[in-house]
Amino acid sequence: MKTDPDDPLNSDVTELGCLILGMRTAYARKENAMAYARQTTGALRNSSVATLIAYDLQAGRYIAAARANPEGRVRWCGQLSEILNTYITEQSSVLEVGCGEATTLAGVLKRLNNTPRHAFGFDISWSRCAEGLGWLSEHNASARLFVADLFNIPLEDASIDVVYTSHSLEPNGGQEEDAIRELMRVARRAVILFEPIYELADMEAQARMRAHGYVRGLKETAERLGAKVSDYRLLAYTANALNPSGLVLIEKEPSTSTGKPTWRCPLTHMPLNDLGDVFASAQSGLVYPALRGIPMLRSEHGIVASKIIGR
Ligand SMILES: C[S@@+](CC[C@H](N)C(=O)[O-])C[C@H]1O[C@@H](n2cnc3c(N)ncnc32)[C@H](O)[C@@H]1O
Repeated sequence: MKTDPDDPLNSDVTELGCLILGMRTAYARKENAMAYARQTTGALRNSSVATLIAYDLQAGRYIAAARANPEGRVRWCGQLSEILNTYITEQSSVLEVGCGEATTLAGVLKRLNNTPRHAFGFDISWSRCAEGLGWLSEHNASARLFVADLFNIPLEDASIDVVYTSHSLEPNGGQEEDAIRELMRVARRAVILFEPIYELADMEAQARMRAHGYVRGLKETAERLGAKVSDYRLLAYTANALNPSGLVLIEKEPSTSTGKPTWRCPLTHMPLNDLGDVFASAQSGLVYPALRGIPMLRSEHGIVASKIIGR
């Protein structure tokens, strides 16, 4: 099926219906599910729906990998925490964007010099967040996990001190500008990208990254958006030499934390109140449910239920 981006009916929901069974079959056959999605829709880049399905199918694999290679996890989380330490105090809020199964988030939180007052992580996949909650509890780490899309984060402007990624921008090649703009909107103090760096990779790694639709030009994109990039380099430890991990450190003006991060509706950008089993907007009457305790905060999850507030 070819999808037409100008067709108003060409929504994520339509794409989900078109791709879900085929991607599951491709995954079961041990084929690359993202490549199947690109071929099926004719898209040149990985869509959010394809990313969601592909990563949701893999849920549990990062935890299995962390158990199989605990030293690798320690090295990865250790080098991230060393960089994050400069920006995180006991008053801080921190957010891992695209946290997957929280294997990085848990390791980072355990190794920071200061435990941040508010720790958040979100992923586009519910199954990965669910796995992540189990991993956090197993490792005595505490963070609020929710489902969201990194291109439309359900948090107010400048509401999180430190926003970081760990290979989550990776599959979103071609959308670097939208991604970095959104992270800079939410961050108050710093945006710290731990991502594969195409421009610093060798030719073999670059060819692989192009084939997978990975991000490129992160530093140049951030600078074009007016960001101050204060550090840019490959990291000492990388799990896969064909996907070399690097750092793009974007600093914003130092400012004091303003306390608890505040939610906003991904559709209307109005304030969203956490009522426990749902997140609700008094202004719009839109609500977002929690699925087995995990808030579902993508725009696709919005439900018109104007009478829920006050019940
Ligand atoms: C390579 S994994 C890294 C997971 C985790 N950060 C870690 O270090 O283990 C990439 C993650 O980014 C998430 N992701 C990719 N695109 C996303 C998007 N548009 N919104 C939210 N999450 C996204 C995927 O679902 C996946 O869990």
